[in-house]
Amino acid sequence: MRILAIETSCDETALAIVDTSTNDHGEQVFTVLANHVLSQIDIHKEYGGVFPMLAKREHARTLVPLLIQTLQKAGMYKKTSRHVIEHPLRKEFQDILEREPELFGQFITEIPHIDPPAIDAIAVTQGPGLEPALWVGINFAKALSLVWKKPIIPINHMEGHLLGSVVEENTPDTLTLPQINFPAIGLLVSGGHTELVLVRSWGTYELIGETKDDAVGEAFDKVARMLGLPYPGGPEISRLGKEGKSGTYPLPRPMLHSKDYDFSFAGLKTAVLYLIKKIGTPSEQDKADIAREFEDACVDVLIAKTMRACEEFGARHIILGGGVSANALLRARFHDEAEAVHIPLSIPDHHLSTDNALMIAIAAGTHPDLRAQGELRARGNWRLTTA
Ligand code: KG4
Ligand code: ZN
Repeated sequence: MRILAIETSCDETALAIVDTSTNDHGEQVFTVLANHVLSQIDIHKEYGGVFPMLAKREHARTLVPLLIQTLQKAGMYKKTSRHVIEHPLRKEFQDILEREPELFGQFITEIPHIDPPAIDAIAVTQGPGLEPALWVGINFAKALSLVWKKPIIPINHMEGHLLGSVVEENTPDTLTLPQINFPAIGLLVSGGHTELVLVRSWGTYELIGETKDDAVGEAFDKVARMLGLPYPGGPEISRLGKEGKSGTYPLPRPMLHSKDYDFSFAGLKTAVLYLIKKIGTPSEQDKADIAREFEDACVDVLIAKTMRACEEFGARHIILGGGVSANALLRARFHDEAEAVHIPLSIPDHHLSTDNALMIAIAAGTHPDLRAQGELRARGNWRLTTA
């Protein structure tokens, strides 16, 4: 089965084309025909964070050119002399794209002159994420689905992160989904989410804990800003933290001992703010020490709750996913903890830890029969539950 996947939930415009098959061991294999990610970081950097309307505009501006590049890379781009959009359809998809006039303009100029590619389905991120940004990808998927007469598979972005962590890269162009033992506990940490998920099988999920306020990536970004570091703050804090000493400026570990599996990072962020005020003008070493202690505090809570969930639910596999899983300290500490209790751990390769469409295609590949039911719409707060 060949899937075209579209991801526009935040500040990355991403498209991928993947072939799915099964190997001799019964494992699913994904052959990557194309995988393109266009990051908007440089645009949002100026503002110190992601602006939903700006993100939406950029997705709308770049989707058609990126689709052409993606089809070219996959060897599926062919100009045609016949006009593939029948006239009565024009009005229908003008309606679909009415909120994205720039996207509509590019669509009508390019798409009718391309031979419909040999794909079987279009997977698109339906949520969670920034709704204006999600809508662009969804409307694009709807318009393509109408013109090319292909079904849409709606995907939860967080499921994409889970699967993106578990797949193994055999060659840069072939990924295998290994058989893992369930139940698994997944910790998903990104700029918008901090979730602890009980995975009973692929497609069967239970959200057992989440953040009460800021996501951990968001806290990294905000603390970085307090320390005068650019957006996105996660990698900057990691870099600075390497020079820092743990414990120089003790910070709280919010909700470390609470009985539930929820998290809270807003108080920790405020504690950093007060600490900086108290120091007055922090030296470079002070900043490094604060960065390191902040990382330690986040990692301590994330590890404690994940490992307790593993014990309670008898987890046989641990999955770490989302943008923050790129953090070296978090990766190293998880590695040690999982090894100590002999539970296999999946951590994504760097290019699969941040947002991409490959993980969306992979998620679609695990449940290709899940077609969009009813009205397909952006679901900004869509929780990961059983599909
Ligand atoms: O999953 P992702 O790419 O986008 C969302 O869905 O939010 O995650 C982005 C988040 C940002 O907050 C960024 O600061 C954080 O991941 N991040 C990191 C690191 N690299 C990216 N946080 C900590 N350490 C890192 N090395
Ligand atoms: Zn993400």
